[in-house]
Amino acid sequence: MGESIIKAINVQKEYRREGNIIRALVDINLDIEAGEVVFITGPTACGKTTLLNVLSGLDLPDDGQIILDGENIARANEDRLSNIRRQKIGFVFQDFNLIETLSGIENIEALLWPTVLSKKEVENRAIQALRDVDLLERKDHFPRQMSGGEKQRIAIARAIVHQPRVLFADEPTGNLDPTTEGEIMKLLRKLNEDMGMTMVIVTHQEKLLSFADRVIQMERGRIENIKGKR
Ligand SMILES: Nc1ncnc2c1ncn2[C@@H]1O[C@H](COP(=O)(O)OP(=O)(O)OP(=O)(O)O)[C@@H](O)[C@H]1O
Ligand SMILES: [Mg+2]
Repeated sequence: MGESIIKAINVQKEYRREGNIIRALVDINLDIEAGEVVFITGPTACGKTTLLNVLSGLDLPDDGQIILDGENIARANEDRLSNIRRQKIGFVFQDFNLIETLSGIENIEALLWPTVLSKKEVENRAIQALRDVDLLERKDHFPRQMSGGEKQRIAIARAIVHQPRVLFADEPTGNLDPTTEGEIMKLLRKLNEDMGMTMVIVTHQEKLLSFADRVIQMERGRIENIKGKR
């Protein structure tokens, strides 16, 4: 067994709404190895996004531990958490979340600011990230001039430009047609193979699950089943 990069230990999370308690995460235990590609799947409202947000420190669990690269982020203060997110984590979202008034390369560079790097070095890193997603020719285009698949490539370049240890993606192909969807998944798999980057990806698309090393099947806030190599 390789190095553990993310571990969830007895993680719980509830939401309260109109007097009801929604048990979004129920006793989650999970161990993800560095370099693994793990998919999280399951029906709507089963807790996929909540789990991803808690694993990545975007949200805090009510109880339990999240050990990311050896550190319990469920107990980290806000400053430390934002440092961890800046250094170790990349995010990709369903709706791309690009800044419409910035060009492709500027969207990527923006992730690195503020920084001690020179302007030239920031640009060089963004160019490398554009090469990694094979989209250098869209560098100076704005999001409105790009297709959905191109926008998602820019968003992936932005998510990897700081070379995070883990890339988290919540339904990264949810707004794309089937052909583009397959291309984006292949790209993510290639980045994983080239860079050894760990990936945790939420999808409810059954046919994408073959891209994963392991598939976590959720049901009503619980892990029902884990399928795969380990
Ligand atoms: N901020 C919130 N306040 C109250 N309830 C919430 C909140 N966020 C999520 N929930 C509830 O928690 C449960 C899990 O939601 P979650 O978004 O994690 O599901 P999901 O599996 O990602 O669903 P989908 O496939 O539709 O994206 C749902 O019942 C949802 O309504
Ligand atoms: Mg969701």
